[in-house]
Amino acid sequence: DIQGFIFDLDGVLTDTAEFHYLAWQRLADQEGIPFNRQANEALRGISRRASLMLIVGDRPYSEAQLEEMMERKNGYYVDLIQNMTSRDLSLGAIELLNELRQAGIKIAIGSASKNARTVVERLGIADKIDAIADGYSVQKPKPAPDLFLYAANLLKLKPEQCVVVEDATAGVEAALAAGMWTVGLGPAERVGAAHVVLPNLAGVKWTDLKAKLNSITT
Ligand code: G6P
Ligand code: MG
Repeated sequence: DIQGFIFDLDGVLTDTAEFHYLAWQRLADQEGIPFNRQANEALRGISRRASLMLIVGDRPYSEAQLEEMMERKNGYYVDLIQNMTSRDLSLGAIELLNELRQAGIKIAIGSASKNARTVVERLGIADKIDAIADGYSVQKPKPAPDLFLYAANLLKLKPEQCVVVEDATAGVEAALAAGMWTVGLGPAERVGAAHVVLPNLAGVKWTDLKAKLNSITT
């Protein structure tokens, strides 16, 4: 029986994907590296370092320079998220969180971001979240299952009792590798491997989702 939900944060509960993009774009512009919205799609759900490596490609930066660039990008990102409020919650997010809580379902965040706690606070949903697994929790980033297993452990639940909600290919892979029920948000080309694929959280009801997941025999 499903007893827990693990939500990815960026691109699921809120569209910080746009802020990550703006921060990377600013850095790339300063470095004279070609980058755009389309190139940014490949960074969805990818760790800070892996994102930077994809942006710089084979340009010969030293480790110190890479670290400085990661810090610079994070500074821009932190500035951008300061003004976030509950208005930045994705459509349907608060309704789903409330329905899940009323049904006695435990809720965790499973985000690769080191800024996840700040974003949760700014969104005003800290009191609806039972546990946070973030960019400090595990060593191996998604698509490794580690972060979601860590989150399930915080909720004291087994993987098969958990549903993961993800918007990134790497996140869907991580959830499946963890042996969890997986809901992918976005186009099938991106999240098609998930058990259930939805465009976003708008109008999503736990009762409907439960019926869909129960109809899947694995
Ligand atoms: C999430 C986002 C990525 C971001 C990563 C690390 O997975 O989807 O775009 O790069 O977190 O975030 P951070 O705030 O620690 O740089
Ligand atoms: Mg995401």
